[in-house]
Amino acid sequence: MATVDTATVTLTVNGREVTVAKGLSLVEAAAEAGVEIPVFCYEPRLGAGVGACRMCLCEIEGMPKLQTACTTPAGDGMVVNSLSERAREGQDAVLEFLLLNHPLDCPVCDKGGECPLQDLTFRYGPGVTRMRIPKRTLEKPIPISPLIKLDRERCILCYRCTRFSEGVSGDAQLVPENRGASSIITTFEGRPYTNEFSGNVTELCPVGALTSTTYRFRARPWETQQIPSVCGLCAVGCNTAVNIREGSVVRVLSRNHPGIDEGWLPLRPGRELQLPGATGGVAGQDAAERRVGADEPPAVVLLNEAGCPPPLRVGEQLPGVAELSRRIQPNAPDMHRPGCERGRLGG
Ligand code: SF4
Ligand code: SF4
Ligand code: FES
Repeated sequence: MATVDTATVTLTVNGREVTVAKGLSLVEAAAEAGVEIPVFCYEPRLGAGVGACRMCLCEIEGMPKLQTACTTPAGDGMVVNSLSERAREGQDAVLEFLLLNHPLDCPVCDKGGECPLQDLTFRYGPGVTRMRIPKRTLEKPIPISPLIKLDRERCILCYRCTRFSEGVSGDAQLVPENRGASSIITTFEGRPYTNEFSGNVTELCPVGALTSTTYRFRARPWETQQIPSVCGLCAVGCNTAVNIREGSVVRVLSRNHPGIDEGWLPLRPGRELQLPGATGGVAGQDAAERRVGADEPPAVVLLNEAGCPPPLRVGEQLPGVAELSRRIQPNAPDMHRPGCERGRLGG
């Protein structure tokens, strides 16, 4: 007797037929078909889509209105189009709304060069503004912790940061306040943002609204070199990407390794590097930065281009860190991987 596969659904996205696991959203199904649907608020590490930004609008055959692909589950026989004239009009309109009060900060904004709002406006948005009245202005930037600054004018209210605070770090310290055009992101009762995972929100924010105080105005992404690395602040060994500009570490970003860190960078309480008020990726960066050139162990263990532990060749670019690694941890690390020459830090 023929069996019906109920665990998968088959649908068409932009003319491509794809069979995916039941329960995936249209954004995820489209990705499996090799189609990119533009998003701001959708972030797989934060769970199911919430439909906050409306950037993922697409047309679904048989449905009278455009739908948000991040909140619509893929269904059997669906015909989805994210490139139709109606879908493009919807995406263009969403970007126009998002930019109505967005400041013209790009030349001085730390997100410049790695900003989804810049990129998606270029690809899907209007080329000119119809805004003829002055934009709303707000106080900026506001330090919400010693290591994080909040620029509310740039916020697109995607709620990634508040969802992280509520659902991932579980502290609910970052919250939305007010409604409609008066909505803002703030800390609970205006208290400092002190969670040990707080640094992650500067990476999660798709615009330059939450920025790292230690990285602000120090580099542009195209000037930096990203070196895959592993954090050495505790035994977990979260995967990191050390950003280097002219021989100095300017920031440390997360490098998603689902089996180890799920893409988040904490800093453990009680560590000697814990900074008052804020931690996470920015603290790791601050720690690494303070230690380069100082007579202290480095906060990061650098890997070579193949992702292997030392013997290390990047030391030619960063003699300070390589030398410190050799001096401080002569017998470490035990991070042998197949294909890597087993060796001691610094070789
Ligand atoms: S957030 Fe992006 S679009 Fe907005 S000012 Fe910064 S770089 Fe420009
Ligand atoms: S601060 Fe950034 S992450 Fe938070 S809601 Fe605004 S744009 Fe989204
Ligand atoms: S990505 Fe779908 S509404 Fe934001």
